[in-house]
Amino acid sequence: MSPYDLLPRFKAQYDANNQEFSISGVVRPQAIDELGPSIALLRDAIGRVRGVLYVNVRRLTQMNNAAFHTFSRIIIDACRARPDLKFVVITSSVVGWTSRKFGRLSGIEPNITVEEYDTEFYPGQGFLEEGGFVPILRTQTKMTWRHERTILPRHGMRPGIVMADVCCGIGDFAVLAQKEFQPSRIVALDHSRSSLNYARRVMREFDIRGIEYTYGDASEMLLDQAQFDLVTCRHSLQIFNRPELILKELYRICKPGGRVYITNEKNSHCLGEPRAESIRWT
Ligand SMILES: C[S@@+](CC[C@H](N)C(=O)[O-])C[C@H]1O[C@@H](n2cnc3c(N)ncnc32)[C@H](O)[C@@H]1O
Repeated sequence: MSPYDLLPRFKAQYDANNQEFSISGVVRPQAIDELGPSIALLRDAIGRVRGVLYVNVRRLTQMNNAAFHTFSRIIIDACRARPDLKFVVITSSVVGWTSRKFGRLSGIEPNITVEEYDTEFYPGQGFLEEGGFVPILRTQTKMTWRHERTILPRHGMRPGIVMADVCCGIGDFAVLAQKEFQPSRIVALDHSRSSLNYARRVMREFDIRGIEYTYGDASEMLLDQAQFDLVTCRHSLQIFNRPELILKELYRICKPGGRVYITNEKNSHCLGEPRAESIRWT
């Protein structure tokens, strides 16, 4: 057993303002006793709230059956003891098993609803998913890269660094960065499966190595903190209602002393309203 195995690898929190119990990380207890404090927190939350209790499992990467049944039992029992109480379990498509597994609870108790929060995420998502965006993104990158290739080395881009490109789209920027600067590792994350599939095809066809394309949500990444020398996020902040959440995440995954590089657009016609306010903000 490594010392890492002894560290608590999950976190449970209760946010009274939002009436939200959240549990995240890897919940694989060897004995149910290890769940004691989080069970107490959930029970306490159930005892305090009226109306709806939100259960946020958006960053719950793993949970073994023993833990799943323990938490489910508490929620089901609470529904029976308190018919006035409703539970809304918030899952994410990024951790796909949560929607399937917690989804079954709504069939057992009508007062339990399960919502996958990132379906229909932002306007224009359909357009991206259908691949209509490829020529637009490609032209844009062609126009900006000639500037970026001289700007980026001033901000830490150099061979051997570890970098992340968040909202990477079809991956053109990651490919150019890999060819020109040879970082040792690039994690390129996006929430469009079709863009990532396209990016992976390009990587295979052109025999490019060292880019890890990852399906994820930029506002709640499953990446550990402080691990990248350079974190880039290009032409994307403008599409978010709450760009500050993305900024927080970009900083979180960046090493102390590393750089966060952002480019943005003044308008976003194809992704449209209501992001106009956030475009002004960013
Ligand atoms: C305008 S495109 C920019 C793509 C790329 N950075 C470029 O410069 O070509 C915005 C990208 O953000 C992605 N995106 C939108 N919401 C996201 C989220 N919550 N998490 C990760 N990616 C997201 C979209 O799928 C899309 O690929």
